[in-house]
Amino acid sequence: MEAAAKYRPNIEIAEDAEALASRAADLFLSTAREALRSRGAFYVALSGGQTPRLAFEKLAASPAAQSLLWQHIHVFWVDERYVPVDSPQSNYRLASEAFLKEVPIPPDNVHKIPTEYEDICTAARSYETILRNAFALEEGGIPEFDLIVLGMGADGHTASLLPNCFAPFDTDDLACVVYVMDGRLNRITLTHPVLRAARHLAVLVSGAEKAETLRKVLTGEPDEVRYPIHILWPVLDKVVWLVDRDAAAAIP
Ligand code: 6PG
Repeated sequence: MEAAAKYRPNIEIAEDAEALASRAADLFLSTAREALRSRGAFYVALSGGQTPRLAFEKLAASPAAQSLLWQHIHVFWVDERYVPVDSPQSNYRLASEAFLKEVPIPPDNVHKIPTEYEDICTAARSYETILRNAFALEEGGIPEFDLIVLGMGADGHTASLLPNCFAPFDTDDLACVVYVMDGRLNRITLTHPVLRAARHLAVLVSGAEKAETLRKVLTGEPDEVRYPIHILWPVLDKVVWLVDRDAAAAIP
């Protein structure tokens, strides 16, 4: 049976990248309001990349975002290249500049992935401790984010779970190092148990260059090694796919 029929991905198609970003910003706002109303706090993990940038800018410009109870909102990152915080490649810098500096979030509620250690493994363990403390986790506990915002690369990666890279698929760790073998930057990423444990996940996919991969991802048998985004298949009922028309062009 084809994955699309078996798992029924919940796909929303937006007219273009701009409309997709507006929809993603609305989803952030409605999920935040719901979490604040029912649990008194909102825990969100953000990705990097061009698609979220536009959504962050929409949020920054939204009066509704200004009126959220930011003292009860905690922001984390899904993944990070191992670069200083002022690097143009820093996901922390992207979200900070496009969005966080425009809203009244207390600095203590911003939980970046550390990149200042000499040893990247120490940084990954430190991020794990940050997660354990912020979520008051017991030994073996998994954080339950209210929302995780993901993207999908044209190769089918999500977070920093890249095809053909060493990233532990079988792990109890909350965060891990991804060693990229082709000269690109090594990364730290949330692991798939953390992604799967979230209450809601949004996958933002924009651009014609992703259309063919998106078709294969949505219609093929799940294969996490080739298309790491398939790690979401066991929890597809919690995932909303926000896709623009260009990226959706090949979906049957
Ligand atoms: C990153 C991300 C990565 C991203 C995809 C899609 O930091 O690059 O965490 O997983 O979401 O590569 O990126 P775009 O939306 O820019 O295509």
